[in-house]
Amino acid sequence: MRIDIITLFPEMFEGPFSESIVKRAQQKGLVDIHLHQLRAFTADKHRKVDDYAFSGGAGMVMMIRPVAKCIESLQSEREYDEVIYMSPDGKLLNQTMANTLSLKGNLIMLCGHYKGIDERIREHFITKEISIGNYVLSGGELAAAVLVDSMVRLIPGVLGDETSALSDSFQDGLVSPPVYTRPRDFRGWKVPEILLSGNERLIAEWKNEQAVKRTKERRPGMRDEC
Ligand code: ADE
Repeated sequence: MRIDIITLFPEMFEGPFSESIVKRAQQKGLVDIHLHQLRAFTADKHRKVDDYAFSGGAGMVMMIRPVAKCIESLQSEREYDEVIYMSPDGKLLNQTMANTLSLKGNLIMLCGHYKGIDERIREHFITKEISIGNYVLSGGELAAAVLVDSMVRLIPGVLGDETSALSDSFQDGLVSPPVYTRPRDFRGWKVPEILLSGNERLIAEWKNEQAVKRTKERRPGMRDEC
């Protein structure tokens, strides 16, 4: 999978993409991430990417010209499955969307700033708009990093143990059951006996019961949200 991210702040991705699973996925050649500085696609000496909104109102608006130039130069190199705009008014990201997107070949992600982007960018270039939650971030970068992480870990071969993404919370519309490790007894706080029993069938049943119980208690609407 190839991901091209258009941003004014490429450095914001350094941490999230150079550690842990996303780093390993890149090293294994399972994902190829390219960051594009939007200012590189301006033609004026101030490298201007934003301007005042027609009709006034507070805040600057991201201009169409540099965005168009960047997207079109990428599209002239290869076909893209989606051109995604990270936006608080986009569709809420969930595990189903992460699964679907993890199967794509080439994606563009545009990170917005200021008061928004010229509406014509959305009309003519964007194929999908995604929000990571009902709150407003300073820009789309952190949202894009979250989206990339959620997708990349689902690409076959990225996680060492192939089953571990499948048993994630949300994959089956359930949250995860509780887990424990050594010691068996810490200050009298004991690990549930059944987990030490060695009876695989009973353990699997217990885990499923716990997952169902937790989902009811904590996230009763989860099946519908996924
Ligand atoms: N840009 C600003 N806030 C955002 C959010 N919640 N999701 C995606 N992109 C954003």
